[in-house]
Amino acid sequence: MPLVNFVNEKKQVQVPEGVNLRKVAMEAGVQIYQGPDKYLNCHGWGTCGSCCLLVNKGRENASPMGWWERLRLRMSLMFLDPAYEDRRRLACQTRVNGDMEVQTRPAINWFGENFFS
Ligand code: FES
Repeated sequence: MPLVNFVNEKKQVQVPEGVNLRKVAMEAGVQIYQGPDKYLNCHGWGTCGSCCLLVNKGRENASPMGWWERLRLRMSLMFLDPAYEDRRRLACQTRVNGDMEVQTRPAINWFGENFFS
C-alpha cells in the first residue's frame, strides 16, 4: 500500500493504490484549501483549481496529468510560482499509485514577476 507523506502537516497515511489524492487528504484531516476556498470549491470536479498542491517526491507515482488538469493549471499560472510548475497537481485529479511526498497550500505569487507578464 502506498504511503502519502503530507510534509506541512507532518502526517503520513497509508492508502490503497489508485485512490484519489483529495479524498486521502480529506480523510486524513489535512486541509488542502486556503481561505474561503474551504467552502467555495468545486468539490472535486476539477474546475476551481483551489486544490492545487505540490508533489515534491514520487511524481512518477502519481497518475498522469490529463488535458483538463493541464488546462486548469495553465489558467492559474499567473498566480502560482513558476519555479514549481513541474511539481504542481490538482489533488482532485490525481490518483496515488505509489509513495509520494505532498506539500499542501503552496504560496500564491501575488506580486511575482510572472503576474503582469
Ligand atoms: S477541488 Fe476544485 S479543482 Fe480540485
